Amino acid sequence: MLKISILGFGRAGKFHYNSLLRIPEVEVYSICDPHIKEEELPVQRAQNLEELLAQPKVDAVVVASPTKWHYEHIQACLKAGKHVFAEKPVGKSVEQIVSCFELAQQRNLHLFTGFQRRYDPNFLHLKSLIPSLGDPRIIKSCSRDNPKPELPFLKTSGNIFHDMLVHDFDMLIHLLGPQIPQSIYTSAHAYDKQIAEIDDFDTTLVTLKYDHGLMCAIDTSRTSVYGYDQRIEIFGSEGMAQAENLRQNSVHWSNAQGTHLAPLAYSFPQRYQDCYLLELQHFVVSLLAENKNHKDLFNVPVSEVLLSHILVEAAHLSVVRGQPVELSHEYPQELNTLSNSN
Ligand SMILES: NC(=O)c1ccc[n+]([C@@H]2O[C@H](COP(=O)([O-])OP(=O)(O)OC[C@H]3O[C@@H](n4cnc5c(N)ncnc54)[C@H](O)[C@@H]3O)[C@@H](O)[C@H]2O)c1
Repeated sequence: MLKISILGFGRAGKFHYNSLLRIPEVEVYSICDPHIKEEELPVQRAQNLEELLAQPKVDAVVVASPTKWHYEHIQACLKAGKHVFAEKPVGKSVEQIVSCFELAQQRNLHLFTGFQRRYDPNFLHLKSLIPSLGDPRIIKSCSRDNPKPELPFLKTSGNIFHDMLVHDFDMLIHLLGPQIPQSIYTSAHAYDKQIAEIDDFDTTLVTLKYDHGLMCAIDTSRTSVYGYDQRIEIFGSEGMAQAENLRQNSVHWSNAQGTHLAPLAYSFPQRYQDCYLLELQHFVVSLLAENKNHKDLFNVPVSEVLLSHILVEAAHLSVVRGQPVELSHEYPQELNTLSNSN
C-alpha cells in the first residue's frame, strides 16, 4: 500500500481524495489544511506541513493548496523525500518551475502535474485523428467555466491566465507537441465588478499564430449559465474533427417545439471526474513501477510545463499592452531555458 497525504482540502483536495479512495493500492494517510478542523476531515489531520512531512510512512503528497503556495509546498515535499502530485501551476516563474523539476530529478522523485485534460478519452481520440486531417490550419478551443469561483479563490488564483488558460495552452501543447507560436494576441474584459476590482478578467479571447500558418483561437469565460462548456475543433487541409461537450445523458428528445438535449456537465468536478481518477492512477502506477528511467518521473515534461507558463505570461502581457506579443522577441531567455530542458 502506498501512503499518500493531501495538502489543501478545498475543491481540488476533495476530488483528489475521492479519486484516491478508488485506487486499491493507496491509503490516504493524512490531510493538512490549516482552515479545516480535525472532525471535518475523513482521515487524521496533520497540524501543519512540517508535521505532515515528518510522517515517515508518507510516500507521496498531493499538493492541492492555493496556487500562491505551490512552489514552496512542492519544494518542501521533495526536500523531505516525498513524491509529489501537484495541482497546476507548478510555479510562478520559469526559475521556480525548473527548480522543482531539477530537484525531483536529483532526488529521483516523481513530480506529476495536474493537467487532467490530457487524460480525457475524447481529447486523446481527437489527438489521434490529427495525422488524418492534413496540415492543421485552424484550431478553436472553447473553455467556459461554471459556476463563477468564490472571490477568496479568485484573489489567490494567480489570474484567469494562470488559473484557466494554462489548461487550454497545455491542451494545445498536448495536441500539437511543444511547438512555439510566433505571436499571441489577447482581448479581455471583466464583466464582473468584483473581478474588475481585483484587476483580473472574466472573459478572454486569445489568438496564436504559428510560423507555418496555423492559427488558434481560445475563448474563455469564468461563467456559463448553461453549464461547463469545453469544446475543441481542429480544421485541416484534409478534414475537420471536433470534440464536443459531455452531457448529463445522451438522450435527444424531440417534440413540436424542437429537439432537446440534457444539460451539460455542471462543473469541472463532474466533467473531469474520470480524468482526475486516471491522472492519479497514472501517478500510482508510476510510483509502483520497478524498472523506470528518469522520464517516467514526470507525466508532463518540464519543457511542456514551461511552454504553457510562457504562453500564460505572453497572453497576459498582450492584454496589458493592447497589442500582439512576439514570443521570440519577448522571451528569448525563457525559450532558451525551455530548449535546454529535457
Ligand atoms: N486541475 C483542475 O481542474 C483544478 C480545479 C480546481 C482547482 N485546481 C487547483 O487546485 C488548487 C486549489 O484550488 P481549490 O479550487 O481547491 O481552492 P480552494 O480554495 O477550494 O481550496 C484550497 C484549500 O487550501 C487550504 N489552504 C490554504 N492555505 C493552506 C496551506 N498553507 N496549506 C495547506 N492548505 C491550505 C484552504 O483552507 C482550502 O481549503 C489551485 O492551485 C487550483 O489551481 C485545479
